[in-house]
Amino acid sequence: MPVRVLPDQAAWARAGVELILDAARRATAQRGRFCLGLAGGGTPAPVYELLAGAPWAEMMPWPVCHLFWGDERCVLPDDPRSNFGACRHWLTRLAGLGLAAGQVHRIPGETSPPARAAHLYDTHLRGFFAGGPPAFDLLLLGLGADGHIASLFPHSLALAEDAAWVLATGPPPDVKPAVARVSLTLPAINAAHQVVFLASGAAKAGIVARALAWSGPGTPDLPVSLVRPAHGEPLWLLDAQCLGNQSGS
Ligand code: 6PG
Repeated sequence: MPVRVLPDQAAWARAGVELILDAARRATAQRGRFCLGLAGGGTPAPVYELLAGAPWAEMMPWPVCHLFWGDERCVLPDDPRSNFGACRHWLTRLAGLGLAAGQVHRIPGETSPPARAAHLYDTHLRGFFAGGPPAFDLLLLGLGADGHIASLFPHSLALAEDAAWVLATGPPPDVKPAVARVSLTLPAINAAHQVVFLASGAAKAGIVARALAWSGPGTPDLPVSLVRPAHGEPLWLLDAQCLGNQSGS
């Protein structure tokens, strides 16, 4: 299980940006475009801020980039709980660098009921990927304290989904914000060319240790351990604080 540990959050965020830039270069060279799946939650914010600022923003091939989300809360896009809404301030900076509105594929979480929002995004992805698998060139995933990824929570029926790419999921009562969600399913996640788990800070040390320690056999009890992309093992991008030590390695 590939793991990369950076000594602090600043170095971790820079490493995240470099991973995105490298993936963008490879995808653009091989496929003429770069499809990036963004993680929700708060962890990735320092990565996104760096990516959308100098000097890194100018290094990205924004005119051929497409941005997607791994999941969304069922709220309006300007709601502070919205994963898209949390990105909006830096997304607007990229319009001048060639990222057109049509290249930002947000999940319409505000659509009611959530199942319809999920169906709309599923249909959108199938149209975008022209009948092939949802092969994101890079899919970023945060890690919940209960081991959830996207909005696939432990013991959820959505974990057994083997056909739909997007489903509505309801968070267990102990996950904030306690709102309905729309999430990529494991078939969609596992179709990605590259998956990177992002975790930083001491608060994630426990779940990171549990997830890294799982090696089978049998069915894991953490959704993160069910992520097995066809194109290669996910990379864990961690800072030293979420490994419970102060020095990177
Ligand atoms: C969401 C996220 C979710 C997130 C984890 C970690 O919509 O909440 O997509 O999967 O990545 O819950 O959240 P933090 O990064 O805020 O700890």
